[in-house]
Amino acid sequence: MQVLAIESSCDETAAAVVVDGRVARSSIVASQIDLHAKYGGVVPEVASRQHLRKIIPVIEEALEAADCTLDDIDAVAGTRGPGLAGSLLVGYNAAKAIAFGRDLPFLGINHLEGHIYANWLVEGPEPRFPALALVVSGGHTDLVFMRGHGEYERLGGTRDDAAGEAFDKVGRLLGLPFPGGPHVAKKALEGGKSSLHLPRARMGGTYDFSFSGLKTAVLHIVHAGQYSVPDIAWEFQEAVVDVLTEKTSRLAQELGAVEVLVAGGVAANQRLREELRERCPVPVRIPPMHFCTDNAAMIGAVAGHRFGLGQRSPLDEDIFTTNQWSRV
Ligand code: KG4
Ligand code: ZN
Repeated sequence: MQVLAIESSCDETAAAVVVDGRVARSSIVASQIDLHAKYGGVVPEVASRQHLRKIIPVIEEALEAADCTLDDIDAVAGTRGPGLAGSLLVGYNAAKAIAFGRDLPFLGINHLEGHIYANWLVEGPEPRFPALALVVSGGHTDLVFMRGHGEYERLGGTRDDAAGEAFDKVGRLLGLPFPGGPHVAKKALEGGKSSLHLPRARMGGTYDFSFSGLKTAVLHIVHAGQYSVPDIAWEFQEAVVDVLTEKTSRLAQELGAVEVLVAGGVAANQRLREELRERCPVPVRIPPMHFCTDNAAMIGAVAGHRFGLGQRSPLDEDIFTTNQWSRV
């Protein structure tokens, strides 16, 4: 089954052609980073308007890169949420319109489920269950237990900032460009252990996270002056990676998970990839970088699976904007 998938939940306009939920024949992503950089964050209205400009060209490019036309497409999927309402509406309505115009089956897909299913786009044997998923993106930090396809039990998550959000805010405090995550990671390469110590919120042994204290600690250091940007970046990254890794490996052990699936933009972080692989008691899967950050191939991966099970969404289905694991 060949699915045309569309994603526009935040500031990336993306389309992909995915076969049987496992092979991305194309994956086109038009980033808006340059547009938002001068504001230091994503401006929702600017994002929606840019999606309007880009959505059709990006879909055309995805079809062309997959060497096919709409005649070769069997079904259409679009990201339904969570995300920015104005952004979601553009891609979701484009997907609906194509499905309607071509009389094709349609599915609305949860963006977070998409991040996890990026792990199905990697060549080789499929992930096995029960699995523990760590979803770390700009808006979410969740530990989710999967007993099977489409079965999600959220067992932990952030009580304040998401991991990516913390990277972005610290990047801004250190005067680094938007989005902070990759820039903090790059600066950290020049830094190392110093007398600086940042707190690690263990949250009393629960599987929840808190990153706002860490951010405040960085703020105090910056206000006090006399600091090294690379050393703060290094210590901050180590603190985030340490708690994410410690809780993920402990929960995987406790649940008897046979694999850990890592997902979301922060999964592109090299130190996180290394530490998880070293400290988790079971094999750790992490998608290649281009499938960690927002893309439409991951939406096609979920859709391939769900279409295979005969699932369909009605064309009058609404979007949703907040994190809801029950809405998958
Ligand atoms: O999943 P994603 O592309 O979009 C959301 O759904 O939020 O994640 C974006 C987040 C941003 O906060 C970005 O700073 C972070 O992922 N990120 C990173 C790295 N690359 C992207 N954070 C740390 N290290 C990286 N290498
Ligand atoms: Zn995302």
